[in-house]
Amino acid sequence: MNLLDGKYVSEKIKQEIAEEAAKVLATRGRKPHLVAVLVGHDGGSETYVASKMRNCEAVGFKSSLVRYEDDVTEEELLIKVAELNADEDIDGIIVQLPLPKHIDPEKVTEKIDHRKDVDGFHPINLGRMQRNLPSFIPATPYGITLMLKEYNIETSGKHCVVVGRSNIVGSPISILMARNTYPGNCTVTVCHSRTPDIKKFTLDADILIVAIGKKNFITADMVKDGVVVIDVGMNRETSTLTKSGYKLYGDVDFEGVSQKASWITPVPGGVGLMTIIGLLKNTLASANKEVYS
Ligand code: GUN
Repeated sequence: MNLLDGKYVSEKIKQEIAEEAAKVLATRGRKPHLVAVLVGHDGGSETYVASKMRNCEAVGFKSSLVRYEDDVTEEELLIKVAELNADEDIDGIIVQLPLPKHIDPEKVTEKIDHRKDVDGFHPINLGRMQRNLPSFIPATPYGITLMLKEYNIETSGKHCVVVGRSNIVGSPISILMARNTYPGNCTVTVCHSRTPDIKKFTLDADILIVAIGKKNFITADMVKDGVVVIDVGMNRETSTLTKSGYKLYGDVDFEGVSQKASWITPVPGGVGLMTIIGLLKNTLASANKEVYS
């Protein structure tokens, strides 16, 4: 078993991003600027947004956080997004999901100017991605492709099984793995909550990408020898063993599955760290007007 080491890859790419950010500052007289909007106090969202802000500062970006209590109205939020769209000092806007039930995430996502949509969730970016046109690619799928590239994982002609069909991970990564690019050119199967006998499909996977949000969902009996495993799970459980009071578990039983896998991402230390890289790269590309001029 070989480790797909998110810590190593993310640190390496972060250095490259920091060098590029310094060039932006030198040539344009301003830093790439990411704004995050956070509604409410969901523990996971608080952690992720804090990490995004910290990483921006670490590579020489400007970062701003706009906070609302969870009783903010949809209208108020949409007005704020419009304001951020119009602000020329801002390169990237993300609204952290999930949002409270009274706010329609689709409306908010569509309100963000697609040229600043560094989450890549806007239908224009999603459509352009599917057509292989320049676009912002959602951060986690983007991070996964960077990881596969770094370790030269062969993907052409392989059977890639994606478990989960979320807008954030499962759906976009299934598009990317089927595209005529590297990584890509896979035969892709998408499994989800209505798939009977998921094991039938996972057992045939050459590449298995799991984003279902259930601790230890994939066990050793569900995979074949030599499989490449990408574990997107971020299942937080309270723990007395860690400083933070939480312990993170993936969707894959690492101990069992790593006995059979040729390559596997650990949790923590795998895909989670690469998600940040995807977001930083999109923000940098936006500042450099690389996707939309
Ligand atoms: N919630 C979970 N992942 C993400 C993400 O990548 N972006 C946003 N905006 N919210 C999320």
